[in-house]
Amino acid sequence: MIRVDNVHKHFDKGLVRALNGICLEIPKGEVCAVIGPSGCGKSTLLHLIGALDRPTQGHIYINGKPLTTPDRQSVYRNLQVGFIFQFHHLLGHLTLAENVALPALAVSKMTQSQIRQKACRLLSEVGLEIGWISGPLRFRRRKTAGCCGQGHHEFTGNPAGG
Ligand SMILES: Nc1ncnc2c1ncn2[C@@H]1O[C@H](COP(=O)(O)OP(=O)(O)OP(=O)(O)O)[C@@H](O)[C@H]1O
Ligand SMILES: [Mg+2]
Repeated sequence: MIRVDNVHKHFDKGLVRALNGICLEIPKGEVCAVIGPSGCGKSTLLHLIGALDRPTQGHIYINGKPLTTPDRQSVYRNLQVGFIFQFHHLLGHLTLAENVALPALAVSKMTQSQIRQKACRLLSEVGLEIGWISGPLRFRRRKTAGCCGQGHHEFTGNPAGG
């Protein structure tokens, strides 16, 4: 269960008010789409409930617990969140498998060897065990990179985007 309680997010010292008092609840297992015109704050909201950023005001609760400390945020983000970005945001100095394994390597209780095997299996399942990846395969690559934690919550910006 995700609960967003009166969340505000401001940028540029309050000049840009991207979110103003958002409240919502997403029960476990529910598929939820955030829809609205460009610039209305969809990505900002996903960044907050995926713990990639912090609200200016208000709280986010995951299964009843507030995402307060940076430690709690990073454990939640690395173990429970799968994020599929509009742009790939992969680290160029790591291999594709290392990018996929990264969240689990940060906090998972699995061994390095188990994580490596899981990353390779996920890549193989989507047909990406190859080193070179063409444009149409980029969405699958981004999607795979969001799956190696425990995958409890998956967030995607503009899911139909290639
Ligand atoms: N890091 C930032 N610094 C300053 N302003 C920002 C930042 N991120 C977002 N904004 C502003 O906050 C508002 C909401 O942006 P956001 O990216 O959340 O919109 P969106 O609904 O996801 O748009 P789109 O449909 O184009 O992806 C916009 O006015 C945007 O310019
Ligand atoms: Mg967006």
